[in-house]
Amino acid sequence: MSLNLTDITLTYPDGDTRLTALDQVSLHVPRGSLTAVVGPSGSGKSSLLAVAATLITPDTGTVTIDGRSTTGLTRGDLTELRRHKIGIVFQQPNLLPSLTAAEQLQVMAQIDGRKPRTDHTRAMELLDAVGLADQAGRRPHQLSGGQRQRVNIARALMNDPTVLLVDEPTSALDHERGAAVLDLITRLTHQQATATVLVTHDHTHLTAVDQIAEVHDGRLALPTPTR
Ligand SMILES: Nc1ncnc2c1ncn2[C@@H]1O[C@H](COP(=O)(O)OP(=O)(O)O)[C@@H](O)[C@H]1O
Ligand SMILES: [Mg+2]
Repeated sequence: MSLNLTDITLTYPDGDTRLTALDQVSLHVPRGSLTAVVGPSGSGKSSLLAVAATLITPDTGTVTIDGRSTTGLTRGDLTELRRHKIGIVFQQPNLLPSLTAAEQLQVMAQIDGRKPRTDHTRAMELLDAVGLADQAGRRPHQLSGGQRQRVNIARALMNDPTVLLVDEPTSALDHERGAAVLDLITRLTHQQATATVLVTHDHTHLTAVDQIAEVHDGRLALPTPTR
């Protein structure tokens, strides 16, 4: 079980021509492992995550999740797949200002049509896993930037996804908080057995990842195992 990207090419319209954002990218991420995709700004990292998240359909190539190809699925099928299989942590937390930390998580499961009581238990488990059990009743403005980012990460795990996709989670954090968020993502990847892809523009904090792939101008160098 895993996330597989095979031969992905993605272009965007660019005046009279097209800009190649991803150029024949392939990547294999087993469950319970963490892959870092590193590259400068504009190299295609967010595009790679959007394709893996099935939010953008590539020009060519295949995204396979848990052995099932997403090619040819309807928009409805893709929405369903994202809801059940994919957790996405965008760069900006986008928490809802009026909801408590626990409610931010519960909303995800209610979209998924589960029972509120189960949701509350799961939300508390995850807040505990990210070290925020005692902040469950706080709203976003009562939390620090690092705490909001941890709520954001916990929320992405609410529906037990197979795939966890994280976009530059440390860019707004200082060194120490950045390292703590990386540790957290590593631990959750193992605990929740997600196939995790983390994109970042810097190499700091990447000591515990399973493989590092470098992206330049939409081309992905072969991933280097780190252990
Ligand atoms: N929606 C879009 N339309 C046109 N060009 C885009 C769009 N999104 C990204 N790009 C371009 O694609 C390239 C890769 O962007 P992106 O994936 O955001 O890179 P990164 O996340 O590494 O900064 C850049 O040249 C960017 O300007
Ligand atoms: Mg980006």
